Amino acid sequence: MSLVLPSVIGHRGAARHAPENTLAGLRKAAEQRVPWVEFDVMLTADGTAVLHHDETLKRITGLDRPMAELTYAELAGLDAGSWFGAAFADEPVPTFEEALACLGALGLGANVEIKPTEGREVETARVAARILRRCWPASLPQPLISSFRRASLAAMQAAAPELPRGLLAEGLPDDWRAAVAELGCASVHLWRKKLTRAAVEAVKTAGFGLAVYTVNDPEEAVAFRGWGVDAIITDDPPAILAGLAAAGL
Ligand code: G3P
Ligand code: MG
Repeated sequence: MSLVLPSVIGHRGAARHAPENTLAGLRKAAEQRVPWVEFDVMLTADGTAVLHHDETLKRITGLDRPMAELTYAELAGLDAGSWFGAAFADEPVPTFEEALACLGALGLGANVEIKPTEGREVETARVAARILRRCWPASLPQPLISSFRRASLAAMQAAAPELPRGLLAEGLPDDWRAAVAELGCASVHLWRKKLTRAAVEAVKTAGFGLAVYTVNDPEEAVAFRGWGVDAIITDDPPAILAGLAAAGL
């Protein structure tokens, strides 16, 4: 399983510049010339895979109901853009399939984060794997699948073993070596606030890719790249791309 991580990945699209987890966000990221985006995939109550981060729809659409209880038909008409800015009014919560078609049209690679609602870790990964196998644009490099939920990574490993996987955590877990071996992961994705130089060294010496989230300060990005981090996941791709370029990275 070969994995070449880009040095910059747009977080939830380009979350500082367009509403997160929307097609407008994917388009914005492509416009900003970031090579890959990260986004979150979860299931509606009736099993449609959509792009969304929170447990409820409140922050993004104003509707205070959990995703786990909403059907796709109920979700489909919601406005996931106005909270961010009037220019994005009526931007929908996209389905995973719509997002993949959009990536293909834009030539944008992706780190797909499986973000299951409670108890649907396996099902979410299986649905996502089925869609990826059917709809992932052949012109793009293979997507990298990450998750905080090991059950989702294991289900992905069983359903689409050919797709590279990333172990997502805050700090480097004590059992990370066993976990990446068991789940066949190609990379480890860690939170900037818990990232240490020793962790970077351990992961890189062992031959795994390393991504850090969510870094919006160019100086911090330059420092992490200096430690050996492969990919900076950021809400602000233009700032990080410019910062790394200015540092010759
Ligand atoms: O995949 C990196 C990052 O997105 C993980 O945290 O909460 O933003 O999905 P979160
Ligand atoms: Mg995420």
